[in-house]
Amino acid sequence: MASFERILAIETSCDDTSVAIVDCEGFVEALCSAHQDLLHQPFGGVVPEVASRNHTLSLLPLVDEALKKSHRSWSEISAIAVTARPGLVGSLLVGLVTAKTLALSKNIPFIGVNHLEGHIMAPFLRDRKYQPPEDFGFPCLTLAISGGHTQIYLVQSFGVYQVLGATLDDAAGEAFDKFAKMLGLGFPGGVKVDEMATQGDPFGYNFPRALLKEDNFNFSFSGLKTAAQRLLETMSVTEKRQNVHSLCASFQEAIVDCLLAKLDKAVDFYDIHRVTLTGGVSANSRLRSRSQEWAREKSLQLVIPPLSYCTDNAAMIGLAGIRRLMRGEFSEQSLAPSARSLPGDFV
Ligand code: KG4
Ligand code: ZN
Repeated sequence: MASFERILAIETSCDDTSVAIVDCEGFVEALCSAHQDLLHQPFGGVVPEVASRNHTLSLLPLVDEALKKSHRSWSEISAIAVTARPGLVGSLLVGLVTAKTLALSKNIPFIGVNHLEGHIMAPFLRDRKYQPPEDFGFPCLTLAISGGHTQIYLVQSFGVYQVLGATLDDAAGEAFDKFAKMLGLGFPGGVKVDEMATQGDPFGYNFPRALLKEDNFNFSFSGLKTAAQRLLETMSVTEKRQNVHSLCASFQEAIVDCLLAKLDKAVDFYDIHRVTLTGGVSANSRLRSRSQEWAREKSLQLVIPPLSYCTDNAAMIGLAGIRRLMRGEFSEQSLAPSARSLPGDFV
């Protein structure tokens, strides 16, 4: 088995530019990120052109910052990992071209990583304040919930990921973002809905919960979005303003109910007692508290990594990358970015 002590990782799949230095035990020596929320806010969503242009401005300064923060020099970096898919192709391209160029110029190998494998590996990162429970490992169920994805994986071992279910339409984060936009709460919306919901009644409005009775692990949030739109059309501006807290709490409750119902079904069906939540939506405070309650009731081991490892970050890409390199996997300079996962990424 090849030995790789430490890796520099790059993540630019959407609108966050992130660089990390991670060692072979998953210890995060540095994580430096630049967020573009304010740049995309006027458009109410991520504008791909704006995202890739800003990755080009932020990426190399973040590489320097990560090296400085970790007190490492290039001679101590064994390889480079980079997100190669899925994501916005223009954004991925900036990270990929930079990773290839650095690998060539420093004469070290590089590896392209699937962004979702990064989210799956996030709970296994560690730093001075966080480490996963010692007995946490595989097999486990991973709920990956972000602005672009909502999937349940059965993780048998490193590299063996079975997709048990996925959203048939909108991702959970996308539903939060669209609802926030309808209410004029700004972008990104999930965190705003979460904040508003803390003072609202989760049972104030009855939003639909799709596919709950179906015998599968899939999700659907487009009906919820349409129901919210129809309801808001019947309300005056004043009514919406007065009831914004309960509207947010009820909408959020519907999403949390769907996520936990399918996770519960998967835990029972596969008889797995380890569960992890990753992706930006796992920052949601209601989901965190209700999932912890659920795990306690069912005697499950639930791991939710710190927020900095839940949202898009390069540390998770570094851990996935170094584990692959340690198994002897490398990428060629011809590796191209892809908007979607490739056959073989998942079983
Ligand atoms: O994983 P992530 O950082 O990027 C993607 O790969 O999409 O996730 C971003 C998503 C956005 O849709 C954002 O609205 C949502 O995560 N999000 C939240 C919260 N914080 C971020 N959704 C609900 N509650 C939150 N507190
Ligand atoms: Zn993500």
